[in-house]
Amino acid sequence: VIATTSKPTQVDYSDIQGIVRFGYGKMTQAVYLVACVKEAAAARAWLRRAPVSNAATMTPPPTTALQIAFTAAGLEALGVAPSIIDQFSHEFRGGMTDPSRTRRSGDVGENAPNTWEWGWGNGGLKLPHVVFMLFAEPSADNGGGLDSFTRRVIDDDWSKGFELQRRLETNDIGGIEPFGFTDGISQPTIDWEQRRDPTATHIDYGNLVALGEVLLGYRNEYGKYTDRPLVDASSNGKNGTLLAADDAAGKKDIGRNGTYLVIRQLEQDVRKFWQYMHAQAESSNDPAMVDRLSAAFVGRSRDGTPLVETQDAAIEGIAIDDASVRQNQFTFDDDPNGARCPFGAHVRRVNPRNSDFFGQPTGVKKLVAMLGLSRRTFREDLTSSVRFHRVVRRGREYGPALSPNDALVPAPPNDEKRGLHFICLNANISRQFEFLQNAWVMSTKFSGLTGASDPLLGNRAPITGCPATDGFAIEADGSPARRLSGLPQFITVRGGAYFFLPSLRTIQFFAAD
Ligand code: HEM
Repeated sequence: VIATTSKPTQVDYSDIQGIVRFGYGKMTQAVYLVACVKEAAAARAWLRRAPVSNAATMTPPPTTALQIAFTAAGLEALGVAPSIIDQFSHEFRGGMTDPSRTRRSGDVGENAPNTWEWGWGNGGLKLPHVVFMLFAEPSADNGGGLDSFTRRVIDDDWSKGFELQRRLETNDIGGIEPFGFTDGISQPTIDWEQRRDPTATHIDYGNLVALGEVLLGYRNEYGKYTDRPLVDASSNGKNGTLLAADDAAGKKDIGRNGTYLVIRQLEQDVRKFWQYMHAQAESSNDPAMVDRLSAAFVGRSRDGTPLVETQDAAIEGIAIDDASVRQNQFTFDDDPNGARCPFGAHVRRVNPRNSDFFGQPTGVKKLVAMLGLSRRTFREDLTSSVRFHRVVRRGREYGPALSPNDALVPAPPNDEKRGLHFICLNANISRQFEFLQNAWVMSTKFSGLTGASDPLLGNRAPITGCPATDGFAIEADGSPARRLSGLPQFITVRGGAYFFLPSLRTIQFFAAD
């Protein structure tokens, strides 16, 4: 990262792929086409006229959208110069299946890449090069919806340049994920205006994140610019469209207005999940336990209600008067012992809602903490400040819905697969997605816990120094915690890859002939 003192520049929304700003919620139909470059010149020719959707607001809003992202192998296959590819981040170049990172991310045993259906370049599979993400409202394209839009975009010229490797279908099951919990509630608010000073100490939890956390070419939460490919102004490609780098004189910025896109296909065993919850409830002889226990795993009830009280005090970056974000108006400060929401619950792991100082001290305590004189408490140093580890989630579900009740029936032969195409955007894969996945989801030492990984996502395989990874503790005020052990693996990784989602200008730079 490079320090800078330069003033923020205006954001050109028409240069940014729309998915950074919009979830395309009304476009309930979506498909992700994972493809390889078959013929580089033909692929570049198609890309030069690809109708990529941007992030500018339109009236009326569009009813279809196309987004495109490339892996490092894809950039190489397209003919992008090695000197440019080498400037992308280490983890992007190494890829999700790099053996040095699969152990840390829990991609071992049943999750190991050699069992994947796509995303792994071995055992007869090819490494993916590009993902084409298509979205549509059902009524779009004169009522033809996604099928019609896909036929229109993925045309004969596309087939000259690209070869389809895997079609990742999605299915809108009504705003819930396959286990049945409301999804898509909490997202960071992006500081598009770059008004907030990220370098100041943040005593309170806020939901606002620096633009540079989700887009390359802008200041991040450290007030710095994340490394990314820059080129001399003289090598600006034939169509010379790249923007200048804010922080390096004489350089054009290939990363600017682009970001990294992580995709993981996560298959969910919905029957196993609910059958396990019922087995636990029966042993405790309490019917309401099914709801309580499953909510403790997630950290929210099925309707999205958090397990801690929502508050009236404003949280920076959350509009308090907006009913739809009311479910997001909370921190875990009033639940320091995890009695309401277990420390190990999924949402508490992936967003502990802490600030730069443990417990968000006020008054004299705040001063003492800022001076570094506070007495260290048990959990104080265990959880890193969350503002450096936020991601924008854009995942979609796949497979047919299965209600918690229907999930109690044994699976019929050829039961359809269901799960989540988990997708997130971040400017720094290792500090954002991988930190969440490794240090908070898969780690058995999160927040002072032992012998437990994420109750939804853990793969339960023993790891060095920690033979048990299949526990879950439900803390209680004043009485011993309830400890579950032998949690089954509910979620299995079926594929995935790290992509770069370029700006519209950079797509043209890559596609120049
Ligand atoms: C099939 C797998 C998964 C399921 C079923 C799942 C389920 C959920 C649910 C029900 C919520 C609460 C609703 C919301 O706030 O939007 C949530 C929130 C979240 N999940 Fe997951 N999730 C999965 C995978 C992941 C993965 C792999 C990550 C990252 C490594 C992740 C990160 C997050 C984050 C950051 C939040 C928001 C937490 C907050 O800000 O309060 N999830 N997830």
